[in-house]
Amino acid sequence: MMRPLTLADDIFWVGGIDFESRDFHGYSRSPLGTTYNAYLIKDRKNALFDTVKESHGPGLLESLSRILPPEQVDYIVVNHLELDHSGSLPLLMEACRPEALLCSPQGEKFLVGHFGRRDWPVRVVSAGDTLSLGRRNVRFLEARMLHWPDSMFSYIPEEKLLITNDAFGQNIASTARFADEADPSLLRGALSEYYHNIILPYSPQVLKILDQIAAQGIAVNILAPDHGLIFRTPEDVAATLAAYRDFALQRPQKRALIIYDTMWRSTESLAHALYRGLAAGGVDTAVMHLKQNHHSAVMSELAHCGLLAVGSPTHNNTILPSTAGVLTYLKGLRPKNKIGAAFGSFGWSGESPKILGEFLSGMGMALPEPPFSCRLVPTASVLASCEALGASLATALDKHCRDFADSPPER
Ligand SMILES: Cc1cc2nc3c(=O)[nH]c(=O)nc-3n(C[C@H](O)[C@H](O)[C@H](O)COP(=O)(O)O)c2cc1C
Ligand SMILES: [Fe+2]
Ligand SMILES: [Fe+2]
Repeated sequence: MMRPLTLADDIFWVGGIDFESRDFHGYSRSPLGTTYNAYLIKDRKNALFDTVKESHGPGLLESLSRILPPEQVDYIVVNHLELDHSGSLPLLMEACRPEALLCSPQGEKFLVGHFGRRDWPVRVVSAGDTLSLGRRNVRFLEARMLHWPDSMFSYIPEEKLLITNDAFGQNIASTARFADEADPSLLRGALSEYYHNIILPYSPQVLKILDQIAAQGIAVNILAPDHGLIFRTPEDVAATLAAYRDFALQRPQKRALIIYDTMWRSTESLAHALYRGLAAGGVDTAVMHLKQNHHSAVMSELAHCGLLAVGSPTHNNTILPSTAGVLTYLKGLRPKNKIGAAFGSFGWSGESPKILGEFLSGMGMALPEPPFSCRLVPTASVLASCEALGASLATALDKHCRDFADSPPER
C-alpha cells in the first residue's frame, strides 16, 4: 500500500507504484518501473478517477480507506479501459458499490468486453458533459486514441486539474510524485520514451487535443497523468504541453540512427563504415546492434533522428528476424518525416538490402540512395564506398531538414 498524497484540498493521489515493472504491457519497456495513478476527490459526492492494475488493487483500496470508507465513493470514473487502469475495477466496484460508473460510449463496450458485467451502474458520458460533485465539477473531454478509442480526460475547472490517463505519462517508479521533485533530464527522457513508444501513432490526435485545450481556454494548474509524475508548477505544465506539441510535429532532426544485425560481422563492418561517413559529414549518429538493444530503445533513439539506416545480411533469401521484428514495431508507430537507407552483406542471392529498402519505402520514407550490398567480407575499397555513401546521406539529410523547415507539410 502506498500512502495517499494530497494534491489539493480534498484531492488525493491513491495510486500504486510498480518498482518491478520492466516489460510494459508486453509491447514496450519500462526500465525505471512505472506507476498506476488514481485520484480521489472528496466532496458532497466522492469520486474516484481511474483504478490500477489488478495486482495493485488491494493497495488502492487500503490507501483509499485511509481517506474515507470505500462505500462512501459515489462515482468511479473510468477514463480508459486498458487493464492497467481497470484491472482492479471488479474489486473496487465490490468494495465501493458506487452510484455510477462513468465512462465514454466506447468505454461501455470495452467494459463488457473485459469484464462481461452488465449489472454495473454504468453512466455513459460524452465530450462536454459535466458531473457535479458539490463544490467541484467534472467536465469530460474527448481524448479518442489517447490511448484507445474509449479514452477521455477529466477536467475539474475549480482546481484547474486535468486528469489525462495515458497521455503525458512516463514510466518512472520513484518516491517523487511530482515532476518538480525529479531529475529533469531523467523525466524528459522518460516522457519522450513513453510518447514515442505509446502515443506516437496518434500524433494527429495529440495536436487536435492541444488545440482544443487552447481554444477552449482550459487553464491547467495540475496536469495529472495515470503513469509517473504529476506536473504542478506553471513551468512544468507549460513545458510538458509544449513537449507534446513538439513530439507530435515530428520535425526531422539532423541526427542519424544506424541499426543492424549480423551473423559473421560483415554487415557490422558496413554499419561502421556508414557511421564514419555520416559522422565526417557532420551528422551526430548512433549505431545500435539489434541483438543488444530492445525495440523500444531503438524507437526512443529514432525519435531524435531524421535518417534511419538499416542493415541485415541475406539469410535464407531474406532478412534476419531481429531486423524484421524491429521494423514491424517501428512501422506500427508510424514515424513521420524521416529518410531511409538500406545495406547488407550477402553470399550468393543477396535479397536483403532490397527487402529492407522496400520496407522503409512502405513506411513512407524516401531513400535518397539505392540499397547498398557487398558480397561476403567487405574489402577496403567496399568499405570506402560505404563510407562515401554515409557522406552522401549526410548531405541528403541536411537538405531534407532544410527543405522541411522551409516548407513544413500541412497537417
Ligand atoms: C545460415 C545462412 C544462410 C544464408 N542464406 C543466404 C541466402 O539465402 N542468400 C545469400 O545471398 N546469402 C546467404 N548467406 C550468406 C551470408 O549472407 C553471407 O555470409 C554474409 O556475408 C553474412 O553477412 P554477416 O557477416 O553480416 O552475417 C547465408 C549465410 C548463412 C550463415
Ligand atoms: Fe492505455
Ligand atoms: Fe496506461
